Amino acid sequence: MNSKLKLGVIISGKGSNLKSLIEATQKNNFPAEIVIVIANVPNIAGIEIAEEASLPVCTINHNDFNNRELFEKEIHAVLTNARVELVCLAGFMRILTDHFIQLWLNKIINIHPSLLPSFKGLKTHERAIKSGAKFSGCTVHFVRPEMDSGPIIIQAVVPINQKDTPATLANRILIAEHKIYPRAVKLIASKRVFIKNNRVSVKDSSSTNEILINPNS
Ligand code: GAR
Repeated sequence: MNSKLKLGVIISGKGSNLKSLIEATQKNNFPAEIVIVIANVPNIAGIEIAEEASLPVCTINHNDFNNRELFEKEIHAVLTNARVELVCLAGFMRILTDHFIQLWLNKIINIHPSLLPSFKGLKTHERAIKSGAKFSGCTVHFVRPEMDSGPIIIQAVVPINQKDTPATLANRILIAEHKIYPRAVKLIASKRVFIKNNRVSVKDSSSTNEILINPNS
């Protein structure tokens, strides 16, 4: 019997986080598998990454729908058909309705390139640099209706260097993203993640290193 957690990954762009999830799921004993990749933009690099890994890919172009409800209805149908148990937003750049989020409550996670709750939304790196903060990072969290909010599963801290541009900082943070997204999925798939009072606790966590990665690890 296959007891791996079934993942649906939703992408809008180059798909490097999708790639990190693919690589993780290809390892022996990883407790989750990707059963469907959904792209809301046609012809993006992420689609090629999924195809190269022989994963089923479905393009659901938001421009083909009159409203968000119809667009999401299609996404929901594809996810349900593929028997997805956990939805992973990986560089998905659309805002989801409360209705969709309620349908997938605690079964939908996102990666955001900042240390939430700081720097929600767009132009994250530009704003982090301008703020004068010495650290930024990335966060994997359960999705709630308010944008870039929800119980935090795992974060990585990344230093902001004096000469950083938004692009150099984005690249450094992306390396950390590729470490933490598979770790968050593994924790959930191993049934070690619990949510209480809007906070995540991790069962049998022997060290904080498992849930917070510092720049040296
Ligand atoms: C990643 O940095 C991800 O954290 C960010 O977009 C990039 C996608 O890269 N997501 C968001 O900003 C969502 N609000 P990828 O397509 O190479 O995974």
